Amino acid sequence: MRIVLVGPPGAGKGTQATRLAEKLRVPHISTGDLFRTNISRQTELGKLAKSYIDAGDLVPDEVTIGMAKDRMEQPDAERGFLLDGFPRNVAQAEALDELLTAEGIKLDAVLDLEAPEEEVVKRIAGRRICRNDSAHVFHVTHKKPAKDGVCDVCGGELYQRADDTEETVRTRLDVYHTQTEPIISYYDAQGLVTTISALGEVDEVTERAMAALPQLEDPAPSH
Ligand code: AP5
Ligand code: MG
Repeated sequence: MRIVLVGPPGAGKGTQATRLAEKLRVPHISTGDLFRTNISRQTELGKLAKSYIDAGDLVPDEVTIGMAKDRMEQPDAERGFLLDGFPRNVAQAEALDELLTAEGIKLDAVLDLEAPEEEVVKRIAGRRICRNDSAHVFHVTHKKPAKDGVCDVCGGELYQRADDTEETVRTRLDVYHTQTEPIISYYDAQGLVTTISALGEVDEVTERAMAALPQLEDPAPSH
C-alpha cells in the first residue's frame, strides 16, 4: 500500500499516520520528522533546513526530494509506505511520480485530512513533542502525557516546536493554501483523492481513514 497523506498543519497527519502505518504494516515517512532528526543531530542537512522550517517556509525541493527518495529506498519501504508531509507542492508530486514510474509502481491513494483553521490553530497551540523522537506527539488537553512534560513512549522531555508560534503557523497555513493544496487537484486528476473530516476523536478519524482507503486483500503477517 502506497499512500500520501495531505492536510493543513495541525490536522493530525502525524497522529493518524502513526496509527495507519501500524495497521497497514508499512513505514510512516514524515519529511518533517526527518528534518527534525537532522536538526537535533546538527547534520549539514539539518543546518540548511532549520532556517526554512523556523520561518514556516518549505525547504528547497532539491534537498527535500533527495531526502525523501533516500528514505523510500530503504528496505522497509519496499512493500509500501505512508508519506506524511511529502509531496508538498506540484514539483515534488511530479518528482515522486517519476521515481515511482521508474520503479514500475504507483500510488494507491491520497488521503486528504480536512480541518477548519480555528481547530488546527488550537491543536498546534497545545501540541508538545518529544526531544528524542518528534513522532511522539502529545497535546496539553486532548492527549495529556501521564506525567507533565515527559514522553509516555520513551521518557524523553516534551517541548513545543519552534515553528508552532502563532506567527509561523500563519505563514505555514498560507504556504499550505498556495503551494500544497494544488497537489490535491493534481492527484484528483489521477482519481486518487479521498477527502475525510479530521474532526472528532482520534479513534474516530482513524476509523474514517481506514474505511476510506482501498481495502488490503493480503495483509502481510506481523513480525
Ligand atoms: P511537518 O512536520 O510536516 O508539519 P506540518 O505539515 O505543518 O504538520 P504538523 O506536523 O504541524 O501537523 P500534523 O498534521 O502532523 O498534526 P499532529 O498529528 O502533530 O513540517 C514542518 C516543516 O518542515 C514545514 O513547515 C517545512 O518547513 C518542512 N517540510 C516538511 N516537509 C517538507 C516538504 N515535503 N517540502 C519542503 N519542506 C518540508 O497533530 C497536531 C496536534 O493535534 C497534536 O498535539 C495532536 O495530539 C492533536 N490532535 C491530533 N488529532 C487530534 C484529534 N482528532 N482531536 C484533538 N487533537 C488532535
Ligand atoms: Mg506532523
